[in-house]
Amino acid sequence: MALKKGVDVKPAQGKLGILLPGMGAVATTFIAGVMAIRRGIGKPIGSLTQMGHIRLGKRTEGNSPAIKDYVSLAKLDDIVFGGWDIFPDNAYQAAVRAGVLESKDLEPIKEELEAIKPMTAVFEQAYVKKLNGPNVKKGSSKADLAEQLMADIKAFKDKNGCDRLVAVWCGSTEVYRKPTEVHSSLAKFEAGLASSHDDIAPSQIYAYACLKMGVPYANGAPNLSLDTPALLELARKQGLPVTGKDFKTGQTLMKTILAPGFKARMLGLEGWYSTNILGNRDGEVLDDPESFKSKEVSKLGVIDSILQPDKYPDLYGNISHVVRINYYPPRGDAKEGWDNIDIFGWLGYPMQIKVNFLCRDSILAAPVVLDLALLLDLAQRAGFHGTQEWLSFYFKSPMTAPDLYPEHDLFVQQAKLQNTMRWMMGEEVIHHVGNEYYE
Ligand SMILES: NC(=O)c1ccc[n+]([C@@H]2O[C@H](COP(=O)([O-])OP(=O)(O)OC[C@H]3O[C@@H](n4cnc5c(N)ncnc54)[C@H](O)[C@@H]3O)[C@@H](O)[C@H]2O)c1
Repeated sequence: MALKKGVDVKPAQGKLGILLPGMGAVATTFIAGVMAIRRGIGKPIGSLTQMGHIRLGKRTEGNSPAIKDYVSLAKLDDIVFGGWDIFPDNAYQAAVRAGVLESKDLEPIKEELEAIKPMTAVFEQAYVKKLNGPNVKKGSSKADLAEQLMADIKAFKDKNGCDRLVAVWCGSTEVYRKPTEVHSSLAKFEAGLASSHDDIAPSQIYAYACLKMGVPYANGAPNLSLDTPALLELARKQGLPVTGKDFKTGQTLMKTILAPGFKARMLGLEGWYSTNILGNRDGEVLDDPESFKSKEVSKLGVIDSILQPDKYPDLYGNISHVVRINYYPPRGDAKEGWDNIDIFGWLGYPMQIKVNFLCRDSILAAPVVLDLALLLDLAQRAGFHGTQEWLSFYFKSPMTAPDLYPEHDLFVQQAKLQNTMRWMMGEEVIHHVGNEYYE
């Protein structure tokens, strides 16, 4: 059982630049939050890297250091922020527009936020039908646009004296697309960039440019982005860690907490109806059926993969699973979700559970962005590369090896994440058998 490994993790020296393609509600809530926390005027609630502890050894040893003291993470004071957006608003203006944080929280950091101005974006309206903005690059081809992004990355790194960079896509959800021939290999993808192939999405141009520049990449939206053979080939070639897709925050987080519980107790599920209202720009983008399709596919996969209807046909063989998102401007970022869950027990007797989650989308997503940025940077310094399945904990639609089904159960994901940290540090992994206490 011993899996002791232990890798040489390079120290987190110097500045870490966090690049954010898409500087809307999530990105600005994240940036403003880190600034407030650095000044001691807020706490990093929801961030495992900042608030979590990890148990080492036996329960009787009482050894549970803070994760941030156990693995080598960049310090919040060493972070600098940059990004791109199709709107020219600086981070303060974008945060005010997003309406997530109140002015009492934004005013003390106004100047610092104002200094963060988005670089011009790579954008194609065919991929986000509801948006159109002026802060957009012009280029002779998609290859040229990728070159311009690479020049941005180099200039940002030099100007800010960064030692390392990571990127987290916080841009809008692009329309649903399956991978095509142009995504099947790096060579075909590069030829597609040169010929401005229609199937190459803007998010893929960012992912390509970042990977070319040695920048690990996480995708917070459900669209494919780097989850294609071509870009994964590039990540492997460059020796870079990558992860995605779609931050797991509100309703799906609740699903992956509840569904494993039903399954653990062998309770049946007949149906799960989820609906929610939200009124932020993300909601507006998702009002387009093609962008919603990306989200729907990402949200629907969760239940089947946790409940395994093929193995448990009596319990989960005939589930009706419906997901709706309704754009409702008065709510802004304060989303309200309703879940009606029809379960059944002994002899098939039916029961219902109702969940009414009055959440705040970006408040839930901001700590996820922070953890992903810090853990991707850690992964890079530990020499990990390719798809980082141990970061599934943070995603609705985790990327995995091609023939592997994704693990959605939040608690399996948590165990995987913590055991990866223990393994990285040369510690015994914890298997929870616990018979040694009774011998
Ligand atoms: N908030 C959550 O809980 C949550 C959960 C899962 C996923 N997400 C995803 O995270 C992303 C960001 O969410 P948000 O609420 O901040 O949305 P938002 O609309 O406030 O911000 C997205 C920003 O991306 C910009 N953008 C779009 N295309 C771009 C491009 N090609 N280049 C640069 N900028 C571009 C938009 O102008 C906008 O400012 C969305 O894709 C959303 O689906 C959010």
